[in-house]
Amino acid sequence: MNEREKLLIDQAYKEVEQYRNTVVSDPYRLTYHIMPDVGLLNDPNGFIRFKGEYHLFYQWNPFQTAHGAKFWGHYTSTDLVHWNHEPIALAPSEWYEKNGCYSGSAVEKDGNMFLFYTGNVKDGSGNRETYQCMAISKDGVNFEKKGPVIMLPPGYTAHFRDPKVWKEHDKWYMIVGAQSENKEGKAVLFCSDNLSHWEHLGPIAGTNMNGLGEFGYMWECPDLFALNEKAVLIVSPQGLEPQGDMYHNLFQSGYFVGEIDYEKVHFKHGAFTELDRGFDFYAPQTTLDEKGRRLMFAWMGITDDQEPYHPTIQHRWIHAMTLPRELVLNGSKLYQKPVQELQNLRRNEVSHECIELTKRDVSFEKIEGQSIELKVNTMKLEGEMFDILFRDNARFVYDPVRQRASFERKRFNDNMWEARHCQLDKLEKLQVFMDTSSIEIFINDGEEVFTSRIYPNVNNSSIRFSVKGKAAFNLQKWDLRNTP
Ligand code: FRU
Repeated sequence: MNEREKLLIDQAYKEVEQYRNTVVSDPYRLTYHIMPDVGLLNDPNGFIRFKGEYHLFYQWNPFQTAHGAKFWGHYTSTDLVHWNHEPIALAPSEWYEKNGCYSGSAVEKDGNMFLFYTGNVKDGSGNRETYQCMAISKDGVNFEKKGPVIMLPPGYTAHFRDPKVWKEHDKWYMIVGAQSENKEGKAVLFCSDNLSHWEHLGPIAGTNMNGLGEFGYMWECPDLFALNEKAVLIVSPQGLEPQGDMYHNLFQSGYFVGEIDYEKVHFKHGAFTELDRGFDFYAPQTTLDEKGRRLMFAWMGITDDQEPYHPTIQHRWIHAMTLPRELVLNGSKLYQKPVQELQNLRRNEVSHECIELTKRDVSFEKIEGQSIELKVNTMKLEGEMFDILFRDNARFVYDPVRQRASFERKRFNDNMWEARHCQLDKLEKLQVFMDTSSIEIFINDGEEVFTSRIYPNVNNSSIRFSVKGKAAFNLQKWDLRNTP
């Protein structure tokens, strides 16, 4: 490790020490989600199962609750639920990454962990350079930087980043998020025999490709993998206009399902589907674990106009990861299931069977709390509207007539209600994970998900049910254990 790297890492740890009390005294600190010790966390990076442990790295600015020269923070876990904070993995110390070790991924080769990430460089007038870099570790904790392995190919602007690497047919592949010179978002494929020398194969999807038409000016954080013999491309496009109930967040994250021909460098795919319908979900990344599960984390945040108003900023931290989710492909639809291991957090089960509800604003004994899991099952809905109000600050609504599900929350800056919607033929099940300042609502075993940060009154634990008409359902609720 060189002097500059040592210095940056020391400064980051000093920042953690200096603000530890400020941060931990925040009543909005989450109790079972991954957060930064101080400063700003964004994308999940380098998610991998390596030598019996899950590793999850994250984009981290220790020095501000705003974006800047990112580090890679690092957590490990044996069960996806309890996470250990590891030493800082990457600090932006070198010329080729001086404005940030931006997002990337991890693979294992010959017992070593290889990280691929974007070295972000900006000059005084904001001009960018981008380098796809490699770092290697024997133990999965200490990394040796090898510098750039890919320079910007012709035809693209310097918005060229977020390498995701995987192995297929005995070859290594990398997909990179890109913007072409004519300002079209693209996903660009490379291949390699040895991880060091990369061949540029070209774009496989993007604006004005494969029948897609105009589809954003930049694609971030692509991730390509096989599921049920299909190829799935997850990507976070920027620049989509709202369309009906879709694309109302500043940026989107979603997927295409199709078939890929690696020889012909061709990906034939269907329509884009948003992964999440809530306010705070971006830059998801997946990995395959030893049980064969395709697991996904996403950043439970986004760089929108609400970002400067998260009240946690007063406590010197901002943002968190979503819960880990398993992806399952049903036809051409991705379902997201909270990983089974989360059941280990359950305690104090409360259940109510066969509730018949015919009015508004009803609460049920012990169905309340702040860090809880709530299941609503076997619904019969004869009415126009069913809704659940969480802590007077967030609401799930289903309208069986319009077959539309909605999530509403109070905006951070002015406390006004704002809403997101999606089409839903039938409401059968809800599984809600609420934490002190977040909510993740899984509908019908993960057919749709609403993920959002919320900032209710810290003493408010109420959950109230309403119906216009008649609803019948079972309720199950657990308190969820704190994870360190
Ligand atoms: C997505 C993103 C990536 C980039 C990283 C920087 O949120 O903009 O494209 O690598 O964040 O932190």
